[in-house]
Amino acid sequence: MRRLGKLWKGIAAGAAAAVLLGGCGRPADDSQEKDKNLIVVGFSEVGAESDWRVANTESMRNTFVEENGYELMFNDAKQKQESQILAIRNYILQKVNYIVLAPVIEEGWEEVLQEAKDAEIPVIVVDRRVKVEDDSLYTAWVGSDFRKEGDMAVEWLEEELEKQGREDEEINILHVQGTAGASAQLGRTEGLEAGLKKHKNWNRVATLQGEFTQAKTYEVVLDFLESGKAADVIYCENDNSAFGAIQALEEAGVSYGTDGDVMVISFDATRAGLQDCLEGKINVDVECNPLHGPRVESIIQKLEAGETPEKEWYVEETYFTADNLSEEFIEAREY
Ligand code: AHR
Repeated sequence: MRRLGKLWKGIAAGAAAAVLLGGCGRPADDSQEKDKNLIVVGFSEVGAESDWRVANTESMRNTFVEENGYELMFNDAKQKQESQILAIRNYILQKVNYIVLAPVIEEGWEEVLQEAKDAEIPVIVVDRRVKVEDDSLYTAWVGSDFRKEGDMAVEWLEEELEKQGREDEEINILHVQGTAGASAQLGRTEGLEAGLKKHKNWNRVATLQGEFTQAKTYEVVLDFLESGKAADVIYCENDNSAFGAIQALEEAGVSYGTDGDVMVISFDATRAGLQDCLEGKINVDVECNPLHGPRVESIIQKLEAGETPEKEWYVEETYFTADNLSEEFIEAREY
């Protein structure tokens, strides 16, 4: 596999300098650079909308470093698909060795992935998925089973209501969705919807758009509460959304958590989320593991060795309540 990295950059810089100096510039001294022989990875990240995302970015940045033989080109797409498409096109132009894409939403990738394929650059999709008819447009995907996460949350709620002797009561659920069209939203929503179908006494009182952020969720949940509406459960599709919901509940003077009137369901199980869980503010936190850097690297290493990596790689996950958490566990957690 070709190696571009510093060498390519050196040549490009040398050529550019030569043009600028009207042919009088000395050739770039790339002998030192050649030895580095780095694998160039272009990574387009969704943004920085949540604690989870920050941990994911860190994991990638810490993995694809020069000491490990990589040069990382990074794009923060600020939750915009257009920005991701531009970044991928730029990586193709720069002839990177691998493109890694954490797609903001599932749809709309065919054209640009075809361009990467035509340029013979393998694309590894990470975290959320892409929905394409021809799955040869990407080499491999690694991430979470978001539907299974939703199912875990619903199973917990079923058991909790049973424990409380409320399994036949009318249960009002406020649903706060993440970014519309993102795999994490779609899977977690599907899980809840299957629960609603199964339990005729569960009612979804509203679906609000929380966009996976604390600020947006705070705004929409406060609005909901201030309009005099109530719920027994708030189903937040990530930790930062749960933080926003908690902020709104506090402000509206509504009790919540293990000792309150409103049960808070969350996803991610980041350190801050688990701390809230341990303190009884979040009733259940379903895990979503963001430490994908080493996983993506192992896919790249397989490709480098001429092997074929698994097309799909689901990460094993669990869920947490105050009962299976401790300060020590949270402190030792990597994210
Ligand atoms: O795609 C993973 C989800 O995206 C995480 O649950 C969330 O925190 C992030 O923004």
